[in-house]
Parts: sequence; structure tokens; C-alpha cells
Amino acid sequence: MEKLLIRKSGPLQGTVIIHGAKNAVLPIMAACLLSDEPSIIENVPQVTDVMLMSDILRHLGVTVDFSGDRLTVRPNRYAGTVAPYELVSRMRASICVLGPLLARQGKAQVSMPGGCVIGLRPIDLHFKGLQAMGATFAIEHGYIVGTANELHGAKIHLAGAFGSSVLATANVMSAAAIADGVTVIEHAACEPEVVDLANFLIAMGARIEGHGSPVIRIEGVERLHGVRYRIIPDRVEAGTWMMATAMLGGDLTIEGGQADHLGAVIDKLCETTVAIDKLNGSLRVRRSCDSIRAVDVTTLPFPGFPTDLQAPMMALMARARGVSVLTEKVYPERFMHIAELNRMGASITREGTSAIIKGVARFSGAPVTAPDLRASAALILAGLTAENLTEMVGVEHLDRGYQDFEKGLVRLGADIRRVTAEEGMVDRDRVTFNVERYA
Ligand code: EPZ
Repeated sequence: MEKLLIRKSGPLQGTVIIHGAKNAVLPIMAACLLSDEPSIIENVPQVTDVMLMSDILRHLGVTVDFSGDRLTVRPNRYAGTVAPYELVSRMRASICVLGPLLARQGKAQVSMPGGCVIGLRPIDLHFKGLQAMGATFAIEHGYIVGTANELHGAKIHLAGAFGSSVLATANVMSAAAIADGVTVIEHAACEPEVVDLANFLIAMGARIEGHGSPVIRIEGVERLHGVRYRIIPDRVEAGTWMMATAMLGGDLTIEGGQADHLGAVIDKLCETTVAIDKLNGSLRVRRSCDSIRAVDVTTLPFPGFPTDLQAPMMALMARARGVSVLTEKVYPERFMHIAELNRMGASITREGTSAIIKGVARFSGAPVTAPDLRASAALILAGLTAENLTEMVGVEHLDRGYQDFEKGLVRLGADIRRVTAEEGMVDRDRVTFNVERYA
């Protein structure tokens, strides 16, 4: 087991280069199942979730090769239809093979995704959309068994209790690309990752209009061909670096930070007194005064403030001047990080789907456990502004979605180190020793 040893650091001065978007590449890899021809995908982040999706594709009979940040996917008339429990249980995004498999093979057996630390994550909208196109579903032995003789176009209203769904939109749009006739998705997700998938499908020969808006029109085509395609930069990674600069101070240029993907985040950070310059293809972030001002934030589907940046924003607000209310409107249970931040001295209480955050002047380093991917980033940022040592376990969550995050921090002068559990014990002894010596 690995852990991160984190000490007070900053300011952050320099440049970081943003990797390709994890949440764009996963449905794009799944969409490769729609064609028999090879596709080359560039700017692919080297994170565990991408490796897991590669394993799912390989399990289906597809050849997947990495060369640096380039991924070659060769479907080669694959015959598999099963996404097994061992893989799906490790990554919920595996559900995005459902639409492509049904459209291409007429059959899909995808292990039912289980519970998740960020709350209940139903898949009724995936079913609703694909059923409207002619698919039928049964749950057997923990598996979704989907069948479709031939998928046809349909008009589908894809809104759920918490608004649009990113991966349900991805599943329906992918399947509709080679279905018979025209599909119209109303209340489609507008996230940049959905737009990237649409652009990938269009490059393959699909006919899609309206992507990036709540109404997407897809006219099915006979076949799709292989392409070479470059993934958009990861807006969540860029947003995390913005919050890191806000917390640690400094002057950071974020290459690949796209202002049009981060409008709500830029707006909120400017309110906190962070200075942000929108440059061509990058963002320059500077903390302009000593303390950050508390602001209220509500997460919403795009173009609202992203739920995936709620945890890092909470870490920032926990050190701000004043009280802020952070309301989660996408995943109402995504608050596991509150308890861990409080262990470091934060003052956060939960009321329903809101967190009430009273800013504190200092954090005190502590052993903490990252409960999920975005919470891991929040705890690292908190540790980098805390007195004494913070030891974070649950590093495997960080590795699911952030490529080389701690290496990037080290390059900018931060004091953060990955060690095995045994090495971590040695460091903790040293801290205990120091505490005794200076007490
Ligand atoms: C995607 O998940 C992302 N994952 C998530 O990122 C992200 O948090 C989420 O979108 C919201 O932006 C990938 O792209 C791989 P949703 P997805 O369906 O598509 C409810 C990260 O940290 N819902 O848009 O699964 C759902 O419960 C991850 O990188 C239904 O009710 O999320 C939620 O409340 C975590 N029925 C809301 O919709 C459904 O059938 C939005 O979820 C599907 C979803």
C-alpha cells in the first residue's frame, strides 16, 4: 500500500501542462466498438481508469496498444459482449460500453454497477434511452442483459431527478450513430466531454447536430470508419490546479486550461479575489491578496460549477475568510471528504445537500484517508497548507484520474512524496520525535 507524505508548501510559481480529459476518453474508447476499423486516440491520460477501460475492450476481443499518450484501438471484428464484474466493479464508467455493444452486436451483458462512495448512481436513464430505440433489458445474476435486433431512431427525453446525465447521453448518442433513422435527445448533457465524443463520432462518419446544447439530433449511418483523434484537455485537472494556486498562493500558468470549459469556476474564483488571465489556450492564475474571500457555490450540470471540483473547492473555502455554503445538486451524497477535512482542523457541518463551511486560519496535518478520486485532490491541497505532516492513504483513488499530480507539485517546489506504508512509518516516527523535542 502506498501513501503520500505532504508538508506545508508554496507558493506555486511556473507552468503546468494539462493532460487529456479522463472523462472524455472513456466513452470515446467505448465508441471505438462501433466500427471494425482501427482508431488512434491521442492525448490520452495515463490513469488507472483508462487502463481499466482498455482491459474491458481487450476482454471483448479488441486489441488495445499504448505508446506514450497515444492509444491504438483495433476492434478487428471482435465478438465479445460481456463486461465482467471484476472490471465493472472497479469503474462505473464501464457502463458506457452498453450502447455501443447493443448497436454493433445486438447484445450486451454488462455487470450491474454497484454502490459508490459518492452516493446512489442509478442507470435508469441509460435504459430509458436505449429502450426507446428498441432494446430490451433484464437483470440476471447481477448482470444487465440487453438485446436489440435492430436499434431504431427515437425522440427521447433524457432528464432525471438531478438533471441531465453525461454517460446516458454518451450511450444513447453512440448507439444512435449507427441506428436506423433519426434520434433526437432532449435534455441532453452539454458537458465538453459529450461534445468531444460527438466530434469523435462525426470524425468517424456520424451525422450529429446540436451537441453542446440540450437537444442533440443524430441521423444514423450504415457504418463508421476508424479515425485519428486528439482528446480535449482535462477541465477538472485544470480546475484543481487553479484551486491549488488559490490555496498555496503563487503565479501559475495552466497550459491547456480552456476558459470556455471553466466559466463557472473562473467566475467563482475571481469572487474569492484570485486573479485569472484568460490567454490563448492557457490560463494564468494568481492569488492577489493574503486571504481568500468566502463565496457560496452550487454544483450543477455544465455550464454550472462542476461537481467534480466540489471537494477541492471545499478545501479552499475551509481556509477562506468568512462562512460559505456549498450546495451539491448533482450527487447529493458526495460529502465523504467533510469528515477528513475536519480531522485536519476544518470547521464544516452538513445540512442536507449543503455544507456550511466556516473558514479557519490554519490546518493541522493528520493521517487521512482519501474516500474517492476528487476528495483525494482536496486532501492533498489541504495537506499542502497544513502545519506538520499529513499522511494520505487511498492514493489509488488519485491514480484513477490525475496523471502525475504529485510529480507536477514537486516540479513547482511543493513538499510531497509517495512512499510505501513502511517508509511512511519511518517518517511518522520522525515527526513524533520532533514534536516531543519541541514540546
Ligand atoms: C459523469 O458520470 C462523470 N464520469 C463523473 O465524473 C461526473 O461527476 C458526472 O458525469 C457528473 O458530471 C465520467 O464521465 C466517466 P451523470 P455519470 O449520469 O455520467 C443521476 C469523476 O470524478 N442519474 O451525469 O455517471 C446521477 O445519480 C466522475 O471523474 C440518474 O438519476 O454521471 C446524478 O445524480 C465521478 N439516472 C446525475 O444523474 C441515470 O440513469 C448526474 O449523473 C444516470 C444518472
